Amino acid sequence: MKTVVITGSARGLGFEMAKVFRRNNVNVVISDLNEEKLANAKKELEEIESEAQVKYCVCNVTSSENIQNLIDFAKKEFEVIDIWINNAGVNQPEKPIWELEESEIDLVLDVDLKGAIIGSKLAMEEMSKNKKGAIYNIEGYGSNDAMMLGLSMYGTSKRAITYFTQALAKESEERQTGVIVGRLSPGIMITDFIVTALGDKDKIQLSDKTKKVYNILGDYPDVVAKFLVEGMLKNEKNNAKIEWLTNRKAAWRFMTAGFNKRDFFGDGTKLLNK
Ligand SMILES: NC(=O)c1ccc[n+]([C@@H]2O[C@H](COP(=O)([O-])OP(=O)(O)OC[C@H]3O[C@@H](n4cnc5c(N)ncnc54)[C@H](O)[C@@H]3O)[C@@H](O)[C@H]2O)c1
Repeated sequence: MKTVVITGSARGLGFEMAKVFRRNNVNVVISDLNEEKLANAKKELEEIESEAQVKYCVCNVTSSENIQNLIDFAKKEFEVIDIWINNAGVNQPEKPIWELEESEIDLVLDVDLKGAIIGSKLAMEEMSKNKKGAIYNIEGYGSNDAMMLGLSMYGTSKRAITYFTQALAKESEERQTGVIVGRLSPGIMITDFIVTALGDKDKIQLSDKTKKVYNILGDYPDVVAKFLVEGMLKNEKNNAKIEWLTNRKAAWRFMTAGFNKRDFFGDGTKLLNK
């Protein structure tokens, strides 16, 4: 039975990926900042019928000790980590770069970039000992060079994650570690992430124009998670990019937007803080 470790997985994409792994009989270690939210998430995951187990471990990805502790915990519970996903992330306040506080810039870079770098480094140290495993990082706005006022620091970190993950894949191949490294590209998901900044400290007021784009291109995270997890379970190639919202799919969504009226932001939305 395989084991996956997912950072930032008490809610959102990480939590939805954990559900899909469970349905596929993969042991899951969820991790996040808050123990109570993790315990609730574990309970919900255990309602899914599976031959596999779920464990949780508090881990703040801005601490390398916390990440090492998560690795040690997963090893103690399941011996081997087969898949490691650096998923934890925070959004930034909707401001131009020069209006951000230095502490806000630090948090975005520490979680979204350095957290994934140290997560990858420590997971690679562990997996390369066994000469097998897979490490995935999450792309996002900016990974493909897109720019928009209010997303520049987040975009800087995601652009860097793309380069970093490709570079790590190359180094892994050259050193013949036996570990594959890849990118997950989830497109736009209707999660708390798009309406909160800096880990729920700030609210983001989406403009009507942004809501319109999200209604066309966005998806709930369960839909995206199913696609990404099935892609990871099939993938055996190093340097893979598992991409949900391809350019083709985005163009099709715009072309058919007139027939497919979607409203994620109206009454009854699932967009809620857990
Ligand atoms: N929502 C989108 O449209 C979108 C699009 C592209 C990429 N992404 C990326 O997908 C990933 C998941 O996003 P989401 O939409 O599920 O967001 P989310 O806000 O719903 O979930 C993020 C999780 O990360 C956790 N987290 C935050 N800081 C942390 C830290 N220091 N240590 C550990 N955990 C921490 C949060 O507590 C939360 O549970 C992120 O990497 C994000 O950048 C999101």
